[in-house]
Amino acid sequence: MNTTHTSYMSTIRTLYSLELHTFFLLLLVCPLLLFLLLLVVKSQKRWCNCAICTAYVTSSWASDYPNLCDWLTDLLRQSPTHTIHIHVLGNIITANPDNVEHMLRRNFQNYPKGKPFSAILGDLLGQGIFNADGESWHFQRKMAAVELNAASVRNFTVHIVSSEISNRLLPLLDSIAIDNSELPDGEVIDLQDVFRRFAFDVMCKVSFGLDPGCLELSLPVSEFAKAFDTASMLSARRGAAAFPFIWKAKRLFNIGSERELKRAIQMVNSLANEVIRQRKNLGFASTHDLLSRFMGSVQDDKYLRDIVISFMLAGRDTVASTLTLFFLQLSKHTRVKNSIREEQERIGSCEKLSNMQYLQAALYESMRLYPPVQFDSKFCLENDTLADGTFVRKGTRVTYHCYAMGRMEEVWGKDWAEFRPERWIRDDGKFSFFPESAFECPIFHAGPRECIGKQMSLMEMKAVVAAVIKRFDIEVLNGNSPKFALGLTACLNGGLLVQVRRRIQTKQ
Ligand code: HEM
Repeated sequence: MNTTHTSYMSTIRTLYSLELHTFFLLLLVCPLLLFLLLLVVKSQKRWCNCAICTAYVTSSWASDYPNLCDWLTDLLRQSPTHTIHIHVLGNIITANPDNVEHMLRRNFQNYPKGKPFSAILGDLLGQGIFNADGESWHFQRKMAAVELNAASVRNFTVHIVSSEISNRLLPLLDSIAIDNSELPDGEVIDLQDVFRRFAFDVMCKVSFGLDPGCLELSLPVSEFAKAFDTASMLSARRGAAAFPFIWKAKRLFNIGSERELKRAIQMVNSLANEVIRQRKNLGFASTHDLLSRFMGSVQDDKYLRDIVISFMLAGRDTVASTLTLFFLQLSKHTRVKNSIREEQERIGSCEKLSNMQYLQAALYESMRLYPPVQFDSKFCLENDTLADGTFVRKGTRVTYHCYAMGRMEEVWGKDWAEFRPERWIRDDGKFSFFPESAFECPIFHAGPRECIGKQMSLMEMKAVVAAVIKRFDIEVLNGNSPKFALGLTACLNGGLLVQVRRRIQTKQ
């Protein structure tokens, strides 16, 4: 009887304690569930079952188009104003140059990056220029413009680019190249990966004065590069999410991809902090990397770190993407390749890159069809009406679609699909590169926030192309119908597989 009583009491105690646990657990979980439910309801209020929204949410467009950007281009072409609205995303998308000028220049103050953008990229970029608005943006923009235009910084970047090309890029290509007479059984290499490593080395040296050596012949991948890749890929995934509450909840509970993102950002930050600490110890007055230059104006280490990381992000993948897609185009257009070589021979020296007008036109033509930043969004501050009459409610995301804009027949003519660098050349006796209106083709953005690294990137890309095509022929093995991976910049799914043939017999 006693034993039965004891076991009865113990069961009661267990049940009681279980109930208490459940009660406290519910007390804890209920507000969180309620919070999640509210987020769901808030995001669902934009629910819409129009044809475009349904195709977006169910991804049914994917059965007819290789890429989301191709589907959107078709929709934008069909729209009489070249503007569409994806209601479930609260996103107006335009390919209309007048609208682009309206948001990027005429009514610039009403179209900041805005809070939603900063929620997506804020963890990685903090207060850096890429993620800043208002005073903070203005301060960084002025400081960066002064530094990037300084002759000493420009010479420093030219030196970095040419040494990375001659000491790493060319020897790497030469080591796997086969001679022109050989059968095509040489090594296959992913050129996109090579350019990503190249651009990462260059941007690390320009931004931090640090050489990660990613393009060494043994091809090690630095922890910094890996963490940086993971952080930007997962941040891009946040930006494309139809239901942002999911990543917000994952961040709240520190689980899944958000946990991975947090780790990657911690790694990027701790490496950047270490570089800043070392630079402070060594002294920075006589060095020309951006970190050292900005140290003269910014004392707060965290702010300094944010500023330089923005530059890394802005200047790395964009250059790698342009170079990859340029070599893809070139492999299909021997005429253009030969014209660049003729220009090179006419000018006589790679030093005179600024004189290579046809090469610059070819790069722009490649970016017209394949812009590295395919689209870019702002958030409308106050109710507004775009140039084409589209009403924009306060808080709406407005996106200009650069990829679609380069493919509009009205702007580029019936031959818009042709790769024809000549459309960027004015042959008024001088044969010079003539850029179209930046609002018709906003490859480098336009207006007060136009890309601040435009000249630097053109110098870098021209130097690479000139050096590579002088010595090698690049044969692309997987160049049909490019498919893009999800990312902040256009990146080929599966890379760009190539074989390299040596034109000049002498080794580098
Ligand atoms: C092919 C190469 C490049 C392209 C196509 C490109 C394109 C762009 C675009 C579209 C933007 C606007 C982004 C936005 O507002 O969200 C931008 C901004 C920016 N770019 Fe570039 N970029 C390139 C290379 C570079 C390089 C090499 C650097 C570094 C030196 C750089 C630094 C920046 C910075 C700091 C901004 C922010 C400007 C601001 O907000 O005021 N870019 N770029």
